[in-house]
Amino acid sequence: MKIVVTGGLGFIGSHTVVELQNIGHDVVIIDNCSNSSRDVLKGITAITGKTPKLEVFDLREKSKVQDFFKRHQDVQGLVHFAASKAVGESVEKPLLYYENNLGTLVYILQELSQKKEASFIFSSSCTVYGQADELPITENAPVKPAESPYGNTKQIGEEIIRDTCKVVPRLKAIALRYFNPIGSHPTAQIGELPLGVPANLVPFITQTGIGIREELSVFGDDYPTEDGTAVRDYIHVVDLAKAHVVALERLLQGKNASNFEVFNVGTGTGSSVLEVIKSFEKVSGKSLNYKIVDRREGDITAAYADTTKANEDLGWKSESTLDEAMTSAWKWEQKVRSIE
Ligand code: UD1
Repeated sequence: MKIVVTGGLGFIGSHTVVELQNIGHDVVIIDNCSNSSRDVLKGITAITGKTPKLEVFDLREKSKVQDFFKRHQDVQGLVHFAASKAVGESVEKPLLYYENNLGTLVYILQELSQKKEASFIFSSSCTVYGQADELPITENAPVKPAESPYGNTKQIGEEIIRDTCKVVPRLKAIALRYFNPIGSHPTAQIGELPLGVPANLVPFITQTGIGIREELSVFGDDYPTEDGTAVRDYIHVVDLAKAHVVALERLLQGKNASNFEVFNVGTGTGSSVLEVIKSFEKVSGKSLNYKIVDRREGDITAAYADTTKANEDLGWKSESTLDEAMTSAWKWEQKVRSIE
């Protein structure tokens, strides 16, 4: 089947393209290459033996979106990753985030709504829960006021899809609320390529390990957790990619319980910042340079998923351990630096 992956050259997008091709789908990527490179195609081809089609354009250009769907009338599913994702930048440039993350979503849904049938997977985030009152976090936990325009785009994005699905029964959609994706493909052919100084923990750790960064700052050790550092649910990106494939198949095969569903995608296990550092040290054999500093503004104490709904309804379960994910992240970092 023909499946479109927007942002398919990006971190999670590229891993999902691999898994979609692995089960025989014909993938067309739409990407504006604003935060990714065409070279990613080579990695996808090396893993799957097949080169996906690529169309380079910006989804903010409505006429190009319309033209794309005119040329690809046989599209049966769309996985929508293309979006801006830097929390700090979203505070500085809210309108860019609303345009990029929501304007483009509207254009895509307008096109899919006109089709006889369409399946749509949306990249959402556990950020919609804020600091949940109860852990682990189920899908029934209330959505909290967003801490940033980025977080708001995920909440509003889900609302836009929900409202559309109510009046367009032919449209079937699933929002996947990701916890913290890390790692890379075990072949080290594709992986995370942060621009500039990474804001996320794991790329900062691997860059410190390889010597690009002098020292990791651990943001706070006075949280009410076992070792005082904040706790997150780190999921291997390959497991996350597979969740997209399973969710899409659920829609394509008409197994969905309603035409808009939401699933948490995590491992179900929380790990502290210090545990992640220890895992890195174990798998790399290196000792990591780090110091404890103040908390980062806007950070929450702990978040990890209740994965019951995804396990039972989707029939999906994350398989990799934290050590396996860190091993792949480290292998990727070494590969990237060796070719620079
Ligand atoms: C962040 C975003 C979240 C987004 C997610 C996508 C913020 C506040 N939140 O989540 O909205 O959906 O990325 O991946 O940016 N840490 C350090 N030192 C570092 C970097 C991080 O100690 O240099 C700590 C953080 O305080 C946090 C943990 O590591 O406790 C994970 O941080 P990060 O990878 O940035 O993810 P989140 O903050 O959970």
